[in-house]
Amino acid sequence: MTAQADVTTVVAEIRTALEMLDAVIQVRLEERKGGIEHRPLSIDDGDDGIPPLERYEGIGPLAAAIGMAGLSAAEALILVAAIAPLIDERFDAAYAALTDRDGVTGLTGEVARTLVARSLGARLDAAALLGPHGALRASGLVRLDPPDSLAGRLTPEPALAAWTLGLPAPEQRATAEFPARPLTTVHSLTDVVLPARTRSRLTDLQHRIAWRERVVEDWGFGRHHDNTAGLVALFHGPPGTGKTMTAGAVAAAAGLPAYVIDLSALVSKYIGETEKALANVFDRAAHERCVLVFDEADAVFGSRTEVTDSHDRYANQEVSYLLTRIESHPGVVILTTNLRGNIDDAFQRRIHLAVEFAPPGPAERALIWEQALPPELPVAGDLGLASLADRYVLTGAQIRDAIVDAAYAAAAANDVVTEELLVTAVRRQYDKAGRTVPS
Ligand SMILES: Nc1ncnc2c1ncn2[C@@H]1O[C@H](COP(=O)(O)OP(=O)(O)OP(=O)(O)O)[C@@H](O)[C@H]1O
Ligand SMILES: [Mg+2]
Repeated sequence: MTAQADVTTVVAEIRTALEMLDAVIQVRLEERKGGIEHRPLSIDDGDDGIPPLERYEGIGPLAAAIGMAGLSAAEALILVAAIAPLIDERFDAAYAALTDRDGVTGLTGEVARTLVARSLGARLDAAALLGPHGALRASGLVRLDPPDSLAGRLTPEPALAAWTLGLPAPEQRATAEFPARPLTTVHSLTDVVLPARTRSRLTDLQHRIAWRERVVEDWGFGRHHDNTAGLVALFHGPPGTGKTMTAGAVAAAAGLPAYVIDLSALVSKYIGETEKALANVFDRAAHERCVLVFDEADAVFGSRTEVTDSHDRYANQEVSYLLTRIESHPGVVILTTNLRGNIDDAFQRRIHLAVEFAPPGPAERALIWEQALPPELPVAGDLGLASLADRYVLTGAQIRDAIVDAAYAAAAANDVVTEELLVTAVRRQYDKAGRTVPS
């Protein structure tokens, strides 16, 4: 949903949708004129006056969103109603006129129900449409807040709203309410250089993601066993060995969005709010089938020590909550840590698959050196990459950083990247790590 749509397409599509919504609102306002006592619930399931789906057909982003989520005509109208106030606030006033509750503005679940349903049967159907399993909410297109009351506010997902309006997607940052950010990557799994053993573990992981539906749904494991729907993987290894990169690439290869949650920031920054915030993340991930990546898992799942102060006690309570949620989560959870040994035993048992990211050996380093140089980078003849890989014991992240460093030095000198610049950059990596450069 990142590409921006053509402006005229967007404008034409939105205008048609708003005109249809307007027409429905006028009819509903007219129906309410007689007052509450003149609105007997009709049993007749006749025409509820909802514009048919064909009317949205087109090539614009709204039509695409409706098609992708498989919305019904009633659901499509609710989606339009949720987006409409972002274009014109008079829709909020119209919604206020469509409820008997005082002081309510904006689109609530109840107003949405009134919009799409006149008869009793349709009103009952509408309650299900707006429930957590209805396509609108299950697809994450709209949110109901609070989620368990139709008196709650219905709002469109911000990225979706921006997309249907032809605006750039809002940048998503971790916040106290939603302490996760999208994990995007330019890398595919072929870019990650790993020894055969690690790669075969990753293939296992991919199989579990790919065949989940067959095993869990078709073969009944989800119905006949507890907690078999999800998948918890642990990526462990020293800093800079490609754990986060691989997590992003695995999600991308499976065609799933990924969110990353920095656990060390979570426990220190958002103390007190953590449970509710984590609930938001898990709920959304379950709807959107996101891969959840918990970075620095040892910050939370480290061996639980004696309770020494209130901070620790609180943290332990959070850990229990997180454990429960991870265990019952229907999707993929990837935890990364530098120290597998630091992970609590109770937690180790919940991990389905552990993947070790060892520091790269000389052969892997040679490949990383080769692959990390962008093809556009101007270089001088032979860079002696094989010898650099042989001589210097670096991680993938250090090799990447050294190459970036050398590229800047070359750009500043209006020159090309040379072996000498690379060696200087490698030495800096050694300095930064407080290690002595091999002679
Ligand atoms: N095995 C690898 N193959 C190719 N490139 C790598 C590899 N490991 C690291 N890199 C490069 O280093 C960058 C940083 O690696 P990444 O952030 O994935 O490491 P990490 O293991 O998550 O580290 P940390 O434990 O510090 O979070 C990658 O984006 C990639 O450019
Ligand atoms: Mg990482």
